[in-house]
Amino acid sequence: MKRIYLDHAATTPLHPEVLEAMMPYLTDIFGNASSVHSFGREAHWALNDARERIASMLGCEANQWIWTSGGTESDNLAVLGTVAAAKGKRHIISSEIEHHAVLHACRHLEQHGCEVTYLPVDATGRVRVEDVERSIRPDTALISVMYGNNEVGTLQPIREIGEIARQHGIVFHTDAVQALGLEKLNLSELPVDLVSFSAHKIEGPKGIGGLYCSPRVRLAPQSYGGLQERKRRAGTENVAGAVGFAAAAVRAVSALEQKQAQMTAFRRTMIEGLTRELGSDGFIVNGHPNLTLPHILNVSFPGVSTETLLMNLDLEGIAAASGSACNSGALEISHVLQAMKLPSPVTQSAVRFSFGPGNTIEDIERAASITATIVNRIRNNNS
Ligand SMILES: Cc1ncc(COP(=O)(O)O)c(C=O)c1O
Repeated sequence: MKRIYLDHAATTPLHPEVLEAMMPYLTDIFGNASSVHSFGREAHWALNDARERIASMLGCEANQWIWTSGGTESDNLAVLGTVAAAKGKRHIISSEIEHHAVLHACRHLEQHGCEVTYLPVDATGRVRVEDVERSIRPDTALISVMYGNNEVGTLQPIREIGEIARQHGIVFHTDAVQALGLEKLNLSELPVDLVSFSAHKIEGPKGIGGLYCSPRVRLAPQSYGGLQERKRRAGTENVAGAVGFAAAAVRAVSALEQKQAQMTAFRRTMIEGLTRELGSDGFIVNGHPNLTLPHILNVSFPGVSTETLLMNLDLEGIAAASGSACNSGALEISHVLQAMKLPSPVTQSAVRFSFGPGNTIEDIERAASITATIVNRIRNNNS
């Protein structure tokens, strides 16, 4: 049985070219980038070369890029580091549909005397710009709204929110972990101050990420030790990871339009396949119809529980996901779908398919057909 992997929003396979770029730094070139001898200098050179390559892809300066261990650490550093440096300003504006790396950092700050306004979203998962403006207070230190949602794909009005943040002199963070390589990002002309990234979503290695930090931002480090990353993130750098991230980012950004078209075709093929077999009223697409990341398709099949469908898909070799966390063996209803105020037959039957460059149109057609067969079988058994 050929397995079909449709969970690229969770992680992607490492691209062979990325592995090849990393290999010397996993073997011969092993120095610590902070050491002054030639071994260290080789590592330091590779680290900075990777930094420069990523910065030029994103339209920022190399010294505005902080290496981290991934999207989670980037989000934590942005949220906690900004508030810690904000001297007395204790209010944060975020949204109900953020990744838990932002939401749980906000909850932590609430336990330490901060106040957080969680912006609601509409039924498509979009924040309203007016709500952002209305929520601003004299003590607002940070606005954090994600670029594109990892569960339903909905894109947020980042430019408009950023402009409001600029007008009020408030630091603006966006989590672009899912957007990298799928949305054109030019950080020199986008009104953003902090942007989170992660390599393993774009065929790079796990355990390496980055945070863009504009010179306007005062950021207090959240780890203590060495003076790496211009004193913003202590710890010996992951040189092989950085080299891999740069190789993956160069690949992803230079093939962006091609990948956008490919993912859009996969998304369309999946929807067409489901429509053919289940009828257009046999399933519901969650998220925004157009303003969406093209690689994410969140679909509900009322009458079929998420857990049952995922298990049956897995038996057929198809890997899909629920957006929800697995807690004590039971799936929790996704906080994103709840924030969109969707009815429970929709939230309880939602499955996320997320596509990647290794998929083919034939894979997607097969996945749609198998999904529809399972859904029909379960619905018939239940009736
Ligand atoms: C939007 C978003 N932010 C942050 C993260 C966390 O990234 P990492 O797995 O690199 O810690 C993810 C990963 O799923 C994500 O989708």
